[in-house]
Amino acid sequence: MHQDIEEVLFSTEAIQAKVAALGARITQDYRGKTLLLLGTLKGAVPFIADLARAIELPLELDYMAISSYGNSTQSSGVVRILKDLEGPIANKHVLIVEDIVDSGQTLHYLMEVLRQRHPLSLRVCTLLDKERERVKPVTSDYTGFTIPDRFVVGYGLDYAQHYRNLPYIGILKPAVYQVDEPSPEHQHTSPAEQI
Ligand code: IMP
Ligand code: MG
Repeated sequence: MHQDIEEVLFSTEAIQAKVAALGARITQDYRGKTLLLLGTLKGAVPFIADLARAIELPLELDYMAISSYGNSTQSSGVVRILKDLEGPIANKHVLIVEDIVDSGQTLHYLMEVLRQRHPLSLRVCTLLDKERERVKPVTSDYTGFTIPDRFVVGYGLDYAQHYRNLPYIGILKPAVYQVDEPSPEHQHTSPAEQI
């Protein structure tokens, strides 16, 4: 285990089993439909890569990069698109693939933007759902794991762009971020742009 990790929440094997189960459900639900998997850069990349291979349907992949700004203790709720989709989605069933839903602000914004483009349907698959009060109301249609309100890294999730390559998901030791941030649970809404 990496020295900065306090506890492993989900092992590689646990993640793979969950991804297989989600893939099987999605395969059933979208049979006969034109599915577009929309991954959010960068955190959802390992998840969408595995999930796509667990879905036994023809599908397209595309990506959006969304950034949110805030200060060290509170998310500003200001979200913007850094990278948009390659094409229109009006004739597609869109499934957003997210790494984690925390305050809900990023996903809420993304769904507003996408709804205006009139997809045939719009649903959400998130690997992690943090158990906390949402700033914006959002619900996930497919959820991998519900987790406590702790800061986690690995399998795509980062702290200051690090740890994305850990093959498991673990709780980051607070000492790692307490050196630069007074409020650990909100460190990801720091002034630095986070994707
Ligand atoms: P939101 O607060 O739901 O808008 O989540 C915004 C983004 O914050 C997520 O897409 C992640 O990039 C990041 N984030 C939230 N919680 C965590 C965490 O525990 N670890 C790593 N990134 C996180
Ligand atoms: Mg993210």
